[in-house]
Amino acid sequence: MAKATKTPIDVDKLTKAQARTELMRLALEIETHNERYYQNDAPTISDSDYDALRLRSDAIEARFPDLVTKESPSQKIGAAPSGRFAKVQHAVPMLSLGNAFSDEDVSDFVDRVRRFLRLDADENPAIVAEPKIDGLSLSLRYEGGELVSAATRGDGFTGEDVTANVRTIKDVPHELKGRQVPSICEVRGEVYMLKQDFLALNKKQMEADDTVFANPRNSAAGSLRQKDVAVTASRPLKFFAYAWGEMSERPSETQHGMLAWMGKAGFIVNPLIELCKSVDAVLAFYRKIGERRASLGYDIDGVVYKIDRLDWQERLGFVSRSPRWAIAHKFAAEQATTVLEKIDIQVGRTGALTPVARLTPVTVGGVVVSNATLHNEDYIKGIGNDGQPIRDGVDIREGDTVVVQRAGDVIPQIVSVVLDKRPKSAKPYKFPQTCPACGSHAVREEDEAVRRCTGALICPAQAVERLKHFVSRLAFDIEGLGEKQIQQFYQDGVVMSPVDIFTLQRRDARAAKKLAEQEGYGETSVRNLFAAIDARRNIELHRLIFALGIRHIGEGNAKLLARHYGTIDAFREAMLAAAKGQHGNGNSSEAYQDLNDIAGIGDIVANAVVEFFAEPRNVKAFDELLREIEVLPAEKPRQSSPVSGKTVVFTGSLTKFTRDEAKAVAERLGAKVAGSVSKKTDYVVAGEDAGSKLTKARELGVTVLSEDDWLQLIEG
Ligand code: IVH
Repeated sequence: MAKATKTPIDVDKLTKAQARTELMRLALEIETHNERYYQNDAPTISDSDYDALRLRSDAIEARFPDLVTKESPSQKIGAAPSGRFAKVQHAVPMLSLGNAFSDEDVSDFVDRVRRFLRLDADENPAIVAEPKIDGLSLSLRYEGGELVSAATRGDGFTGEDVTANVRTIKDVPHELKGRQVPSICEVRGEVYMLKQDFLALNKKQMEADDTVFANPRNSAAGSLRQKDVAVTASRPLKFFAYAWGEMSERPSETQHGMLAWMGKAGFIVNPLIELCKSVDAVLAFYRKIGERRASLGYDIDGVVYKIDRLDWQERLGFVSRSPRWAIAHKFAAEQATTVLEKIDIQVGRTGALTPVARLTPVTVGGVVVSNATLHNEDYIKGIGNDGQPIRDGVDIREGDTVVVQRAGDVIPQIVSVVLDKRPKSAKPYKFPQTCPACGSHAVREEDEAVRRCTGALICPAQAVERLKHFVSRLAFDIEGLGEKQIQQFYQDGVVMSPVDIFTLQRRDARAAKKLAEQEGYGETSVRNLFAAIDARRNIELHRLIFALGIRHIGEGNAKLLARHYGTIDAFREAMLAAAKGQHGNGNSSEAYQDLNDIAGIGDIVANAVVEFFAEPRNVKAFDELLREIEVLPAEKPRQSSPVSGKTVVFTGSLTKFTRDEAKAVAERLGAKVAGSVSKKTDYVVAGEDAGSKLTKARELGVTVLSEDDWLQLIEG
């Protein structure tokens, strides 16, 4: 558990009143973590810390059984469906498993089974031992052998309908094979992602400035629970079958027989599963799997033992949320204590500043760890992604003794700081405000944990990425100058920044060794390249703006800016004026207001553009570039419409069109759509229940139109 500042009272010593309060606190805390884990796919504590919370809650309830309520974590599974998907009622609830943490817990489990079934002390029930896959469980319903629905576990009774997403997973058959296919058949198992696929996906996500997942489990859950099925389809999800729900007929009388049947029906069953004849045999399996854990392609967090005979499973039944016939034997979290020597800042290819802990090397679960991720500035301070404290709010400092854990077998993380060992001289870490690679100022957007370098045009850590972007299809689109050539030119030191592309020919003419004489080039290809570059010296304004690689400026926003400012001079001047007004907590310049008022450009985008121009070296690189190229003015919107050049404000609830449609049409006709009413407003189009904007319009004497008036105006 997040190391409590107060040492918790021993469960044995709690008074009943204390127990009640403590249970309520634990229930709340567990509920919060459930939500983060199950609904947001973004846990903030380790699995073992979570288990510790639950164990304490269970222990208190065991001592005070009358304090158990419906709201107790022991009575619930997972978290209610998120509301992002339709709900599915499970025909048979999807339950959870009790945990064993020691060999003794495992033999206690078998003893309990024996007692319950009234078996002799020397009778050993056969047990199927399965790796416990660390993914998310899924229930697949087949009717007449055909996949009809797929649902997540949710709270165990109601899950989320992810049928369309699941149809994109290769391991999930759309149709069952074999003769023994029950007419109604629910197969359950785990959706997971291979460790290598997770790493590759994260790399891609990082490069695209998209969500980076903490571990393969979150990555699998996040990938499955996508509103856009195409995104799920692009993610390498896999599936192991190991259980079932409703079945009209049962193809076998044993767990191992059922698994064999699933294999025949077309599912993938984990190949490591073994049928064991004694407690010693299951424990030997546990150790063997534990040793192989790091080298498996996927994460597992323990081993599951299941009584093999299904008639015995039935007799054993369930206690509250878990079966009596199965138990999960968890692996101990792999942790070790070491010293954090130094915090380094790495600059990603898109400018994200990521802190990395350099550790005195230490072995964690058989792997030597010398670096750990520190994620971002807040993480070092002890603040989680959601603004809540992590590690009980304890910050991380250079010189600290820390506990490291290999989370999900992949990225080592710092779980806690040993405060007793903090050197007196250790100072709170000061996160750099400038980029260590280029010295440009680094900024954080509102509600963003990441600090980013603003030196888009000049930062060496970002150079190759920026250059690739600069020549890409929607930017300068220079034929014969693709990613490979850029990479090569950068390595050779001939193209280090955008302007170098346009001075290449001149410099080459003076060079001792000409490009055409170099390996891989020839007279013709070099001539063609220079011609292609020259052809792009005349460039449309929106392409140039897009090419700068400013955060949030995609093609659409680049066009909005180009259309608004019209010419490169107007754009440049306005941006420099806005940049002058930029200071830590805001910008009051008129130029900034004007930028921010462009329909479709909000604070975040406006800030990103202004931060770019607030970095003098970007401006220098930009101006150098402008000396080499001719920027064509943007196409002006249609001048002839009755509303062109007018400023319009839409307010109240519109019934004839949506706000976005209204805005798009108005803009197409050359009007400017503003968010607030001022003296400059020409028309206020008021729908039903219009409020303060309408009042203001009347006060200022601005023309107020109904939706119909507006339609008449633009159509007329
Ligand atoms: S059996 C009624 N077998 O562990 C019991 N579960 O803590 C049904 N899990 O929700 C579960 N591998 O997501 C079972 N071989 C396995 C498993 C497994 C992973 C997960 C599953 C379940 C959770 C229970």
